[in-house]
Amino acid sequence: MSIQLGMIGGGMMGEALISRLIVQEIYTPERILVSDPQAERRKFLSDRYKVQTTAQNLEAAQTDVLLLAVKPQMFDQVVAELAGDGVTSVALILSILAGTPLEKLERAFPDKAVIRAMPNTPATVGAGITAISPGLLAQSHHLEQATRIFGAVGEVVEVAESYMDAITGLSGSGPGYVALIIEALADGGVAAGLPRVIATKLAIQTVKGSAQLLQDTGMHPAQLKDQVTSPGGTTIAGVAHLERAGVRSALIEAVRSAYLRSQELGQ
Ligand SMILES: NC(=O)c1ccc[n+]([C@@H]2O[C@H](COP(=O)([O-])OP(=O)(O)OC[C@H]3O[C@@H](n4cnc5c(N)ncnc54)[C@H](OP(=O)(O)O)[C@@H]3O)[C@@H](O)[C@H]2O)c1
Repeated sequence: MSIQLGMIGGGMMGEALISRLIVQEIYTPERILVSDPQAERRKFLSDRYKVQTTAQNLEAAQTDVLLLAVKPQMFDQVVAELAGDGVTSVALILSILAGTPLEKLERAFPDKAVIRAMPNTPATVGAGITAISPGLLAQSHHLEQATRIFGAVGEVVEVAESYMDAITGLSGSGPGYVALIIEALADGGVAAGLPRVIATKLAIQTVKGSAQLLQDTGMHPAQLKDQVTSPGGTTIAGVAHLERAGVRSALIEAVRSAYLRSQELGQ
């Protein structure tokens, strides 16, 4: 049976994609070939997901779609291994390498359709969001294919590549900000006398439920805030404290700092 998806690098994000692609029956396990240098990792992936594995990147590149999922610093080494006729059979190259521009990908694979993607960690539970940017040779059917693949781990948005650093600062780094906010909310609950386990459960569900409410209704966040702040009530007292502490501008600056850092790292 021929391989349809070759994956170079079977780490955290690679595994997230493999697990969801199989669950959603986008590819059957025997159609996926993952290359990874660690024998233990290969055994884990083949035992758990029944995918094919190899230690040879060149072998994983004998496929229709090739997904690059190594750390960005490994890119040059991988390209050197695939030099020459290494990617002859590949019709589409997908890269999730942070900070690796299309121009660099296209220079490495000159006659190939390339799509750059930026997923985020909630992809591991199928609740991620992936931004994709097409290279010069990518056509609409390639974009459809990429949307189907990354759609397995959550939502997909197509954007101009010039937005990628901003996206890294918002949705790429965002899970870190939200985790910190949830931890702090739980600490607040504990400070107010709640047991830690209950406080954490309440904090997680409050963030998740509020996000879902906004998503399902299309309501503006300010409208939700207005709805829950009754005159002289508890929520406006809490909101007033958040404003005094500068939480709003701290979050704006967090996204901006991560955006600037992403720009810096890409140079
Ligand atoms: N994790 C995220 O939330 C996230 C979000 C957006 C984008 N990304 C991007 O996704 C890529 C992968 O991230 P990750 O978190 O999945 O990293 P990871 O867990 O370190 O996975 C990378 C995998 O590639 C393997 N590898 C190393 N050198 C290789 C080579 N020459 N050929 C083939 N495989 C090789 C690694 O093996 P060893 O462990 O032995 O080195 C590891 O199993 C990165 O480029 C990152 O920028 C990640």
